[in-house]
Amino acid sequence: MSTHTTALDHDPLAHLMDRIESSDDAIAKAVQSTMLTPRFYTTDFKAMDRLDVSPVRAEWDTMMKEYEGDNNHDHFQRDAEFAEEVRTLMPQLSPEMRQEFLDFLISSLTSEFSGCILYNEIRKNISNPDIKQLMTYMARDESRHAGFLNQSLKDFNLGIDLGSLKRTKSYTYFKPKYIFYATYLSEKIGYARYITIFRQLERHPDKRFHPIFRWFERWCNDEFRHGESFALIMRAQPHLLQGLNKLWIRFFILAVYATMFVRDHSRPLLHEAMGLDSTRYDYEVFRITSQICRQVFPVEVDIDHPVFKACLERLLDLSKRNDLAKAQGGLLGKLKSAGLAVQAALTFGRLFLVPVKSQALPATVRCEPVW
Ligand SMILES: [Fe+2]
Ligand SMILES: [Fe+2]
Repeated sequence: MSTHTTALDHDPLAHLMDRIESSDDAIAKAVQSTMLTPRFYTTDFKAMDRLDVSPVRAEWDTMMKEYEGDNNHDHFQRDAEFAEEVRTLMPQLSPEMRQEFLDFLISSLTSEFSGCILYNEIRKNISNPDIKQLMTYMARDESRHAGFLNQSLKDFNLGIDLGSLKRTKSYTYFKPKYIFYATYLSEKIGYARYITIFRQLERHPDKRFHPIFRWFERWCNDEFRHGESFALIMRAQPHLLQGLNKLWIRFFILAVYATMFVRDHSRPLLHEAMGLDSTRYDYEVFRITSQICRQVFPVEVDIDHPVFKACLERLLDLSKRNDLAKAQGGLLGKLKSAGLAVQAALTFGRLFLVPVKSQALPATVRCEPVW
């Protein structure tokens, strides 16, 4: 990956960003596994095979009928207008904006493909008919999403070879319960992110700088339904939502929110172009996600607590200073980086102490994507 130093005045750190200029750069970006980039997961397939959804059978069967109906089967096709908009709009992007948009496409593609691989691997390694059928449907959806994003990268001649990405990127092992917490959150936050962007650009069509955003409304309903599936799986195993597991739930909510906050603030131009402020956008996404999570999580993080906000700002500042230290390199750079990592861990510890609100779970699990 090339690191060009160009005179960019909007952000003193921007010149440190890895520039994406070739297909190799794009795949190198997708292969990266850091705190802030999407990962690939693997899990305990035997435990997955033993899952029992009978406590939520009625809601499960309704959901499976929706998957079977496949109301998005014809959605992920580009029309003539799409090509025309790409042709006229993309040359208008500034070089910095182009980098942020490419980074957005690559990280979105990586996380869609991450779901596709995980669901497919579970499907192949189990025989439990309920879970196998669910994984088949979700892998179908994620593969469409990843393919659709990849077509937009191909417009820039930066298409990613997904087979090669699957072989080269490292995999993180998570016990099933961590897969449930993390994947549930990432599906629901994915919904909240896409719908917030869609609604904003619906109000301000002049700010829709790429046609892909017109696809987000029906797209995010897939993500919403994927989240519903994990909600039902967790509600079918109530012990995952009680006792010490409540601390794990709190940990995952905070980790997902903090990662998103730091990540989004490294792409300020992208949100600006849509007429969004990164902080306000993130808080809107937190708010929607927290409301949805009431269907399954017995605890909710107080996102309006002043310490919550202060810790997110602090993590962002530490992350920026860490980028500078890494660019500096050498022993001094390494020492600085290590010191900053300790401070980030302490800050995350403080975040963990922000009080949470407890809530009783509703009798009916399913909810509707009404945002
Ligand atoms: Fe997806
Ligand atoms: Fe999904």
